[in-house]
Parts: sequence; C-alpha cells; structure tokens
Amino acid sequence: MAGRFPTAWLDELYARADIVSVVSGYLSLKKDGRRYWGLCPFHNEKTPSFSVNADLNLYYCFGCKAGGNVVQFIMEMERVTFQEAVKILAEKTHMTVPEMQEDPDYERRRSERDRLLSANREAARFFHDTIWKPEGKFVLDYLHSRGLDDGIIRRFGLGAATEQWDDLLKYLTDKGFTQREIVLAGLAVEKGDHAYDMFRTRAMFPIIDQQGNVLGFGGRAMGDAKPKYLNTSDTPVFNKRKGVYAINLVKKLRDLKRILLVEGYMDVVAVTQAGIQGAVATLGTSLTNEQARLLKRYVPEVWIAYDGDEAGQMAIERAIGIFEQEDVPVKVLSFPDKLDPDEMIRQRGVEAFLAVKPIGAVTYKMSRLRRQYDLETLDGRTEYAKKCAQILKSVKEPVEMDNHLEALSVQTGFSKEVLMAQIGISPESIGQHKQPEKRKDYSGNPRRLPQTYKTEQTLLALMGLGTLPEGTVKEDDFNLPQFRSIAGALLRGETPAKIMAEAEKEEIRQAAGEVFTILSDEEKANPAKVAADCLNKLHIQRIEMQIEKLRELTNAEDVNVKKNAVLEVVRLQKELARLKNQGR
Ligand code: UTP
Ligand code: MN
Repeated sequence: MAGRFPTAWLDELYARADIVSVVSGYLSLKKDGRRYWGLCPFHNEKTPSFSVNADLNLYYCFGCKAGGNVVQFIMEMERVTFQEAVKILAEKTHMTVPEMQEDPDYERRRSERDRLLSANREAARFFHDTIWKPEGKFVLDYLHSRGLDDGIIRRFGLGAATEQWDDLLKYLTDKGFTQREIVLAGLAVEKGDHAYDMFRTRAMFPIIDQQGNVLGFGGRAMGDAKPKYLNTSDTPVFNKRKGVYAINLVKKLRDLKRILLVEGYMDVVAVTQAGIQGAVATLGTSLTNEQARLLKRYVPEVWIAYDGDEAGQMAIERAIGIFEQEDVPVKVLSFPDKLDPDEMIRQRGVEAFLAVKPIGAVTYKMSRLRRQYDLETLDGRTEYAKKCAQILKSVKEPVEMDNHLEALSVQTGFSKEVLMAQIGISPESIGQHKQPEKRKDYSGNPRRLPQTYKTEQTLLALMGLGTLPEGTVKEDDFNLPQFRSIAGALLRGETPAKIMAEAEKEEIRQAAGEVFTILSDEEKANPAKVAADCLNKLHIQRIEMQIEKLRELTNAEDVNVKKNAVLEVVRLQKELARLKNQGR
C-alpha cells in the first residue's frame, strides 16, 4: 500500500482524539488525579496496573508493559493495522477520512526495517502460494504425510521453497526489492557476484511476531536431508534469541491460562491442529531470558513440553532455571518413550497427550535427581536428601513445602524434622523462612534498579511535560542509556506519544511508557523546582558513586595511588557537603 494519510490531517486527528474516552469504550477506568487506572485488557490481572495519561495521550501497563498512543491502543485492541486503526479512530472522533495521498517517494523513504519486513511478507506469501501449485506439491504431500491438513497449513501460513536456485529472488526483484535487501533479509545468499535463494526444497514455517510482522523463516528439509531445519540467521529485523514461534497466535487468545512451550515448529503445528491452544517454540536455540519475559506478558504460567528424550529432559532443567530467574511459574509435561509432542499425538492420540499430568518444577527436579542416586543404600539416600534440601530452599508456600517434605521423607526415611533442619528451617518458620530478598519492581522483576534510576525517571518525566525552560536539562544529565535516548528525542522536539509509537527498541518503549506515567500532581504543578532537585540529587549520586570507586583505591598497595585516592575522596566529600547544603 503506497498511499498514506496527509500529515496535517493525522495531526488534527491526534489532537482531537481523546484517549480516555476511546479506552473507556473498551474497559472501565477510574480517575486518580490526571491519571486513569483500569484492569489491563492485554494480560490477566486482578488489580489495575493499566494507566492512561490524558495529558500526554498515552497508555501504559505497569504489569505487561504494553503501551503506546491512542492509535496503537486500537491496533492492539482490535488487532488491526495502523491504517485500519486510524479509520476506526476517525469514525469515533467524527472526522472524515481523506483520500489517501499518492506519494512516489514514500516507498523509498521508508526505513530499511520496513523494507526488509515487507520483503519477508512477500516471501511468506510466495512460499504459501507455491505450496498449492504443481511445483510445490512435493511439500504439500510431505506435510500431508506428517498428518497436517490444509486448514492448519493455511492457519500457520506454511509454504514451499522449490528446488530452483532463484525462484524467490526473481519474484522479489519483480516486486521492486534490491538484491541487497533480499540478502539483508536473509532470503538469499551472495556468492561472488551471484545470488541464490537461501531456502530450497524445504517446507517453510514463517516466524511472525506479536504485531503480525514476518521476521524470518524456519525451513524443514524433505525426509532425512541435512540440515533438518534451516533458520533465518540474525538480520536487522530478526533475532532468534528474542522471538518465539507462534506468539502471533497466542496474542489472539484472550484469557489463556498457560503457554505450552515445545521444542520444534512441527510440535507447535501438530499440537495446535489437535485443538490444544497456546503452543509456542523457540527458534532453533535454547530458551533465553528475553523469550521467558516475552511469554510472561501473555500468560500467568508456562508448561514446558519438550521432547521425552534425554536431551529434552536436560533442556527442561535449564529452562526451569531461566523461568525461575524471570519469576515465571512453570510446570512440566514429561512424555514417555522419548516421544516429542507431535509424535505423542500422532502415535498415542490426543487423549493420551492430555492425560499427561503437569508436574511442578520442584517435583520435577527432585525426580530427575532421584535417578542419580541409589536409594537402596544409606549413602545414596543421604546424598539425595541433601541435594533435595537445596532445591526445597526455594519453595515459598508452606503447604507445598509440606507435600515435598512428606514425599522426601517417604523416599529417604529421614523424618520431616531432620529434613527441615537440613534445609535450614524450623517447623514454626515454614512459610516465613523465605522472605523475598529482592523487592520487586512494578513488572514483578526482581531486578535491582540502578541507584539513579528513580531520579532520572522523574527528571525525564518532567521533560515530557514540555513545560521546563529550555536548557534546564541536557542529554548528558542521564546515566542510563534508555533514558538518555528518550531525553535526546524529547530535546529534538518529539512528543512522548510519538516516542512511544516509534520506539525501535522494546526497552525504550517500555521505559518511556513507565516514565511518562509516574508523575504525581504536585510534581506536575512545580516542574522547574522538582527538576532542579533532581539535577542536584543526580549530581550528588554521581559523586557518591565516584567516592565508592575511589574507596577501593584507598586500600591500594602503591603508596602514591593510595595517597591520591584519599585526597580525591576528601575533595569530593567537601563538594558533596556543599551540594547537600544547597539542596536544603
Ligand atoms: P528436532 O530435531 O526435535 O525436530 O528439533 P522436530 O521438531 O521433532 O522436527 P521434525 O518432527 O523432525 O520435523 C527441534 C527444533 O530444533 C531446531 C528447530 O527449531 C526445530 O524445530 N532445529 C533442529 C534446528 O534449528 N536445526 C536442525 O537441524 C534441527
Ligand atoms: Mn518431531
């Protein structure tokens, strides 16, 4: 689509659209000062963490970090494209949609990212169209032979890469893409001054993100050809460590209780065809923390359903560790006879698959440990009990602790009291023994925030108001990279709504969403004073950090180093005293 809305008209639309009334059409909001709160429509929650900022025309959820401007809200809510969302909004605000402008430069000016994404989209369409043609029939036959029907092939947009060297290259070149773009997108490879298609003679699985962008592909070889799966290597739009296969389908499911994390593309498709919702897979790598965080946005719990072989079981233990780091509750489905989910369903039936009971992470870990020890011997039981005690230290719920202790006691013959002593808890303290050491931030992440985080956040929020005198704050006043980049954008005159809408990096969008939502009404009433306080505080914090670093040097071996460090500390402390006085 080469047309676009006239800029002046779009500006007018944004100015007229009232985000509070638009959002109120979908959920109920409660007013608190100039902010509004409600239950987030994008994730499951019982207490409101979804906020709407009327001044800045933004929404942001402190829970799942969804956020953006009013058009993005409609896009997410109605699951429509930008253009469709704009039309819906125009209708709500009683503005007539103008003729789309023809703009020959538009395509050229679009960012590289957009170009690569549309190349991918065209490629996905090409592969999918090909699967129904004679030259793609071998792939269709292959997928049929693996039990997939045409409906599921359409639903996942599966496709066929033919045996030819340059089918896709020709197609995309005809569509106006340059060879450089096609190669950059990972769809072709260059050799000398020749290029040829990356994927040939393969069943194609398009990898689609939450927004519906085609990021890359996984290609399954026919039969036993190698490599079995070929994946798009990392490109400017694709990072295999961040994406998750089939997250686009998960996003469409409201009220999903759990995600089923499987190992392979085929497993996702087969499980979904069997009528089981919410299956996803990583993209040819083992699970990363980023992927765990992405999943956490959509569901309260993840069930790991990896292959039943030893490699799969080892991967489960690793994945549990990652989910624990990210505070995601997990359960495990463990399949018999080394089967993977696809084989389980095909060979034993859906009922057998559904009959596999999810087990808790602790129970799973204990059962894995058990196989390493000979519980017939006292030594074996003792070592096993010690290792289990380590695992049980992480259990928070008293009732769960009791269940595990009971089981362990039966297995090892040690009394529950002895086992508790081994864990380091007393019977009365069950339930209290595990105070969370780290305070959680809004998102539930137990991450420790840098010392200057709050102050920088407040300062940035004040800038976002747009009422600070020019020159009050500089980009260099910020230490944290995400804040620095938002400050830079604000100083260039961009609005918070625009920054959120166009943020290339997820971290920036999230930081902005949170920042622009934190100010209290008092702070808003007195921006210049609060900003001065923040700058002063940042200055103090910076000096304190310097002092902390220098303190290590005051223990240095070298006398000169030591002496200079001490002198510098003294000087900084004077400076600090002066600043603190000034702040009063
Ligand atoms: P598996 O080898 O378990 O394959 O790889 P599978 O999912 O059972 O596939 P089928 O049933 O034989 O078709 C699991 C996942 O590991 C990655 C892919 O993401 C695959 O889906 N993988 C595997 C690769 O990236 N490359 C390979 O060569 C093999
Ligand atoms: Mn398989």
